[in-house]
Amino acid sequence: MRRLPLSRPDLGPQERRRLLAVLASGRLSLGPCLREFEERMARLCGVRHAVAVSSGTAALHLIVRGLGLGPGDEVVTTPFSFVASSNALLYEGIRPVFVDIDPATFNLDVGRVEDAITPRTRAILAVDVFGLPVDWPALTGLAGRHDLLLIDDACEALGASVGGRPVGSWGAAAAFGFYPNKQITTGEGGCITTDDDVLAARCRSMRNHGRDDDAVMAHVRLGYNYRMSELAAALGCAQLERLPDLLARRAALARCYAEALAPLTDDLILPADPPGTVRSWFVYVVRLRDHFAPEARDLLMARLRARGIACAPYFPAIHLQPYYRERFGFRPGTFPACEAASARTLALPFFTRLPDEAPARVAGALEACLSGLPRGRVSVHPNLPAS
Ligand SMILES: Cc1ncc(COP(=O)(O)O)c(C=O)c1O
Repeated sequence: MRRLPLSRPDLGPQERRRLLAVLASGRLSLGPCLREFEERMARLCGVRHAVAVSSGTAALHLIVRGLGLGPGDEVVTTPFSFVASSNALLYEGIRPVFVDIDPATFNLDVGRVEDAITPRTRAILAVDVFGLPVDWPALTGLAGRHDLLLIDDACEALGASVGGRPVGSWGAAAAFGFYPNKQITTGEGGCITTDDDVLAARCRSMRNHGRDDDAVMAHVRLGYNYRMSELAAALGCAQLERLPDLLARRAALARCYAEALAPLTDDLILPADPPGTVRSWFVYVVRLRDHFAPEARDLLMARLRARGIACAPYFPAIHLQPYYRERFGFRPGTFPACEAASARTLALPFFTRLPDEAPARVAGALEACLSGLPRGRVSVHPNLPAS
């Protein structure tokens, strides 16, 4: 039986052509592909500036630092994300203030944000989880009322929009990531999008060791090597040219999954998007219903893997990661909606070249594996030892 991986990049002749052209040119850094990639990203997001960098994490770090956030500041954010979204705050000595999620969307529960605001709060860092935009219109209103900066971790959401306005154009700035499991990949890479001229210039400088002019050895601020190589940018240009097709294929696969899994909805909750939002399909994540014991999810994953179907727990809660528990003293029970989601969700194989028949095969395997799973509740988070 053929193994179904969780994700695979979609690379073809266009990518090969662009990469070979860079090799032939001999220009491997800070060249025309970087400029082209940035121009394409800015156009796609409807903003004045795009600054390409070496990873999504680097993009988040430069935004946070470029906005002048630092020690003593608090930033409201979600505990249900990849750990990099709040690590970027820790890099600058900022305290992440977690707010629980909306269990229906897995995104920050905007209705709870106000209660978390203190005189030290400077910004809200929201994440478009699994490619579904957060409620940006509501967050924009709230941030305006409290004079807070808005940062979008859009690493999973290239091509998504709310009310027709693209992700990447909301808030002060957005961060994108191009790891090979993303909608487009540059191998490793990331990008900042913003309309803020000063922030864009600072980020551009900080990504290249704090130079104001890439060609001059004058370092006017603390900088980093967060450059995106020409090879990565060339890959990114080829992928962006194909973006409409790549996104359409992902959306079609999501529809196939929804159809194939419809008979299992007594046991599984499938993704459902609020009206007015266009998701950019990053992963296909289902959630076990509450009649199962939390340990059922890991058992289900083991059974699926035994049948050659890759799957992953998306996401483990950030506040319960060992480093965060140790540093901040978080304990299970602090953010119940996040913890319930992280105990019950699993990502299924999802990538553009997934064969058409795969969702039906996954659904068949899920149906078989769901039977006899333990039911009922347990009080301890399944991934953690009791404390
Ligand atoms: C929500 C989120 N934030 C940040 C990142 C970090 O991106 P990178 O791995 O490119 O540093 C990722 C991707 O892995 C992500 O999914």
